[in-house]
Amino acid sequence: MNLFYIDTVDSTNKYAKEHMQELADMTVVYTYNQTAGRGRLDRKWNFAGEDNIYASIILKPADKMHEQFSNLTQYLCLVLAEVMEEYGVIPKIKWPNDILINSKKISGILAEGVTSGDSLMGIVLGFGVNLNAKKEILDKIDKPATSLNIEVGYFIDKKIFLTKVLNKFCLRYDEFINKGFRLIREDFIKKACFLNNEVTVKVFDKNICGLATNITSNGALEVTDKENKKHTILMGDIL
Ligand code: BTN
Repeated sequence: MNLFYIDTVDSTNKYAKEHMQELADMTVVYTYNQTAGRGRLDRKWNFAGEDNIYASIILKPADKMHEQFSNLTQYLCLVLAEVMEEYGVIPKIKWPNDILINSKKISGILAEGVTSGDSLMGIVLGFGVNLNAKKEILDKIDKPATSLNIEVGYFIDKKIFLTKVLNKFCLRYDEFINKGFRLIREDFIKKACFLNNEVTVKVFDKNICGLATNITSNGALEVTDKENKKHTILMGDIL
């Protein structure tokens, strides 16, 4: 992978999208100072200090969109969780692609596609990981959040962490592009923290409540509601 460092930027995702043409496949744009980080569903991603990760991977797997490309967030999510495990913590995946430790969010992923007509110019896979965030800063976030240094009790070297993530990402990337989510389904399910639990999933402007029963071979969440109706949810947010 090619690493591309920017001192200060509003959002590495926004930068990657705006410079998609000049940036080669498998380039990673990263910064120590992200001033207007964005999250899924129009949320913000707070800046938690320069010793955390704010990065976007640029991918150009094909010139047309394929179904499995939308599961790349889940592939990256599993990679991040596996790297965190190397530090002795037990990360859990909250479908579709958040990572929690002790029920507190430590990492989030935002994927965005850039298209021109019906051609796919590229995919931006942005991820933020709290590696060395101070507790006072995390306490100001509206949802429970944690950081790897807090969980393990020592400072985390972000270059080492990022290198581990990018190496692991490359290992099975080509296979993932061919096989899609079914390549990682079992490993993903082992880390999923909501299966067999009652959940409320926000899908656009409606909420679906019921028992989360399964994650399908294409990464969708299956929820059975009180009327025994099965919902297969491809996009949403567990509340
Ligand atoms: C989420 O949990 O909602 C996704 C958060 C994604 C944050 C990362 S930080 C680097 C990249 N640039 C952004 O503006 N967002 C992503």
